[in-house]
Amino acid sequence: MTTDSNDKLSSARFTQATDAFVETFTASVDFDRRLARHDIQGSIAHARMLCDIGILTEAERDAIFSGLEQIAGEIDRGCFAWSVKQEDVHMNIEARLTELIGIAGKKLHTGRSRNDQVATDIRLYLREEIDNIDAMMQRLQLALLNLAEQEAETIMPGFTHLQVAQPVTFGHHLLAWFEMLKRDRERLRDCRGRMNYLPLGAAALAGTSYPIDRFQTAELLGFTAPTANSLDSVSDRDFAIEFCAAASLIMMHLSRFSEELVLWTSAQFDFIELPDAFCTGSSIMPQKKNPDVPELVRGKSGRVTGHLMALLMLMKSQPLAYNKDNQEDKEPLFDTCDTLLHCLRAFADMVPHIRSKHENMYKAARQGFSTATDLADYLVRKGAAFRDAHEIVGLAVRLGIDSGRDLAEISLPELQQLSPMITEDVFGVLTLEGSVAARKHIGGTAPEAVLAAIEAARKELA
Ligand code: ARG
Repeated sequence: MTTDSNDKLSSARFTQATDAFVETFTASVDFDRRLARHDIQGSIAHARMLCDIGILTEAERDAIFSGLEQIAGEIDRGCFAWSVKQEDVHMNIEARLTELIGIAGKKLHTGRSRNDQVATDIRLYLREEIDNIDAMMQRLQLALLNLAEQEAETIMPGFTHLQVAQPVTFGHHLLAWFEMLKRDRERLRDCRGRMNYLPLGAAALAGTSYPIDRFQTAELLGFTAPTANSLDSVSDRDFAIEFCAAASLIMMHLSRFSEELVLWTSAQFDFIELPDAFCTGSSIMPQKKNPDVPELVRGKSGRVTGHLMALLMLMKSQPLAYNKDNQEDKEPLFDTCDTLLHCLRAFADMVPHIRSKHENMYKAARQGFSTATDLADYLVRKGAAFRDAHEIVGLAVRLGIDSGRDLAEISLPELQQLSPMITEDVFGVLTLEGSVAARKHIGGTAPEAVLAAIEAARKELA
């Protein structure tokens, strides 16, 4: 960080120089310089509008444009001299602009304040991040659909209470994750829509006495319309909180997904193999292959939820309108965007390479009397009341446990002792294939229902 000879903002008002520590303590340039591109984008629109309403001459406007262009280049090339003395990204850019083009640079801030400027910058930034995140989510969804298609017929145990419950297809399980992401993307879209209003023009808090055209700047910057209330415009950070809430939900989903991947790669489940490129070994145990990526994603979910809490606490006691507290909104927001995008990327890259171990999944599904409900449904179809059927099947399961057999391995005469309604055709429903194939309604686990769901999902994504 370089320092320069420029005095602090509004220096005429002050008789004492800022305390050196306070200068660093209150500065945000170390992190908000990330908004530079959006700050310049906002300034270009503002300058164009100021010229159109006759506040800037065309020559001044064009000088501002070329100065900002040069600054953007300096920032891109990494040779812009950021200074903590200029406090934040906005003042750094403005000071450099004035250095480059003189008096016209000083006119850029007419009719605006850093308060509406920063509120605009964050929205421009977040809008772009949401679009990148959304594209990554779509990539992950496609990867899930492709894998689900390959695994539409693969039988695995479905769990409740982490106990084997009923057989399901692996494709169906993968589609459950797809659905979560689908809702997540809807939430992001919602958040983006509500956020896409332009605060610029609210100035410090009360608006401005210049005849500004807020509809023009809104249009130039791709916002739906200007915001409706100047006080709310500069103080509102709901959109950041909403985004972090949506991000926390996504991370919670990725964390659950991770937890299953971690369980399934363990020797105890041994359902899947993760690609070597996404795992690491142990420094002491040569046999280890650890599922680091899902573990890390599971861990990072806590961090994102933490950022959501930080932003809620940041806002909860602030009186209208802008307060310096708001400077604290950036780091949690930036880190949420980065963490989320990186986690999604790791998953989108990893999912296509997940290999399932069909035999182990099948064996596990056979072990937990997972077709017991099918036997009860069979008895109901033969005329038994469901509660009686439940009781009979309970006895059959007891017999299976006592003799170390699955339901399909119990002989017909033994089953008939439990209920005379049972006939040879019972074995059709006791198989895992029969059990999943029977659930072919919309939303069901049958291979044909899974393939239909994939087809519908592909159409939606297109
Ligand atoms: N760096 C400030 C922020 O991030 C910009 C706005 C400063 N406004 C002010 N009145 N001090 O919030």
